[in-house]
Amino acid sequence: MVENSWMDVWEGCEPSEPVGAIFTKPEVTSLILDLAGYIPAGGRLAERRLLEPSCGDGAFLAEIIRRLLKSERTHQGTVDWEDDVLAQSLTACDLNSGFVALAREQAVALLNGEGCPFARAQVLAESWIRHADFLLTSWPETFDWVVGNPPYVRIEELPPKVLGRYRELFPTCTDRADLYVAFFENGLRLLSPNGCLAYICANRFAKNLYGAGLRRLIARDFHVRYYLNLEHTQPFLSEVSAYPCITVIDRQRGEPTRAGIWEKQARLAAQSAPAGQ
Ligand SMILES: C[S@@+](CC[C@H](N)C(=O)[O-])C[C@H]1O[C@@H](n2cnc3c(N)ncnc32)[C@H](O)[C@@H]1O
Repeated sequence: MVENSWMDVWEGCEPSEPVGAIFTKPEVTSLILDLAGYIPAGGRLAERRLLEPSCGDGAFLAEIIRRLLKSERTHQGTVDWEDDVLAQSLTACDLNSGFVALAREQAVALLNGEGCPFARAQVLAESWIRHADFLLTSWPETFDWVVGNPPYVRIEELPPKVLGRYRELFPTCTDRADLYVAFFENGLRLLSPNGCLAYICANRFAKNLYGAGLRRLIARDFHVRYYLNLEHTQPFLSEVSAYPCITVIDRQRGEPTRAGIWEKQARLAAQSAPAGQ
């Protein structure tokens, strides 16, 4: 069972230092959303639900909101700012209240710049972006997309009470599993039947001991649509040696898996740029 308040497990206060905060370059967030099929032309995005479980200051959210509004204009002719469907279509959270404030600020500025009245932009940003521990929050709904860049943190570095709770809740978090393993398990559990999860994270789970439980879960119940190794590129805003990869997973078992290696950041940017640019 998940506690009523995730803060209880964190002994009443969020961690004083950000946990695993490495932010993603905009061209990489666009590529991931393309691979996940979060595309304005592909149907009214607002009628489906997307979750960004560790939004940081909003690298993914900026592009998600732009696509959501473009989709409204494409399929509805205009954006009805009061339409509740818009408020329901997007959920994001982060453990760090400072990042949540920045992500909300960015969302308000973006919405306001697109013509949304300021007060409504604030309401939408607050309903979309929550201050929460993704792993210790009870999510009553499922999602059609779960996308993001989960934190990479050695799980043993977490406070013992938090670590113990994560291990109880997420059976794939065995051995010296990194925190992103629990983000995979929780994100996969929350997928709707036709849902799709797309993360950029360390590729270690694909090969090593601590990824064994997660690999078994994926092999049993899911299907890897794309596996793109980015370990020779630098997809983050800060230089880190994280051996990154993009993994896109759905429930369409029996379909083929497409795997590849991206060698150069320049090619990555060129491939993900919108047509005509
Ligand atoms: C790798 S950063 C990614 C941020 C953003 N999605 C991006 O791609 O730029 C990971 C984020 O996870 C947040 N985080 C760490 N533990 C978390 C948890 N248990 N629940 C929710 N967010 C968490 C950190 O505060 C940080 O902002």
